[in-house]
Amino acid sequence: MLEVNGLCYKNILHNISFTVPDGSFTMIAGRNGSGKSCLLRCIKGLYPHSGHVTCSGSCALVFQDADTQIIGQTVERDLSFGLKCSKEEVTVKVHAIAEEFGLDKLLERRPSTLSGGEKRRLAIADVAITGPDVLMLDEPFANLDYPGIKSVIELLQNLKRKGTTVIMVSHEVEKVLALSDQIIILDQGAIKMQGDADEVFSKADWSDAGIRVTGKREDMLWL
Ligand SMILES: Nc1ncnc2c1ncn2[C@@H]1O[C@H](COP(=O)(O)OP(=O)(O)OP(=O)(O)O)[C@@H](O)[C@H]1O
Ligand SMILES: [Mg+2]
Repeated sequence: MLEVNGLCYKNILHNISFTVPDGSFTMIAGRNGSGKSCLLRCIKGLYPHSGHVTCSGSCALVFQDADTQIIGQTVERDLSFGLKCSKEEVTVKVHAIAEEFGLDKLLERRPSTLSGGEKRRLAIADVAITGPDVLMLDEPFANLDYPGIKSVIELLQNLKRKGTTVIMVSHEVEKVLALSDQIIILDQGAIKMQGDADEVFSKADWSDAGIRVTGKREDMLWL
């Protein structure tokens, strides 16, 4: 379980409290500048904040800006970076994840030469390969085309099936609504609404949250 209690950060986040049960999927939405990325960075422990964050396992964050994540000289080295196992195991894991993310033909490339969508896939793969208990993703659909979006949604479905706890920030509510158990809407650094996904989805003023929603909840999985 991840628990956030009375979290405040500068004059950006105000008294944020919520819990995320193990194995659940939480979506965080809100306008540009509402504090979503700062919240994930505080949870990850990258920004000094007041209040408490407790997490019973390992917690990983895929940044909104893929370049922040990518540090290796080559795609292959970048993927191996966070792994603590034998060379042979590293090779097996790197090749498996590269195939899953469509990066297998790019392993020798310098990450700076990748396209925006390829970088995004690498940034997510970098974190997914370490198998965290809680995976936080900040706008994972940015820069992706339809097959790319589909592969990220499939990955999220697989993670959920495996019991990984997922926290995702997105403006594209409809792409993952069907996977969501909980929705949190931020507004000017404070929680405006939070709770069961069905309930929040039907009650929220989405246009006020900067989001255009069309269609019914059960249709909202982009596959
Ligand atoms: N290090 C910082 N110093 C000062 N202000 C900051 C800092 N980081 C973020 N902010 C401001 O805090 C507010 C929240 O930023 P944040 O990046 O969390 O928004 P967001 O909800 O992720 O927005 P977006 O949807 O555009 O990604 C913004 O007004 C931003 O300009
Ligand atoms: Mg952001």
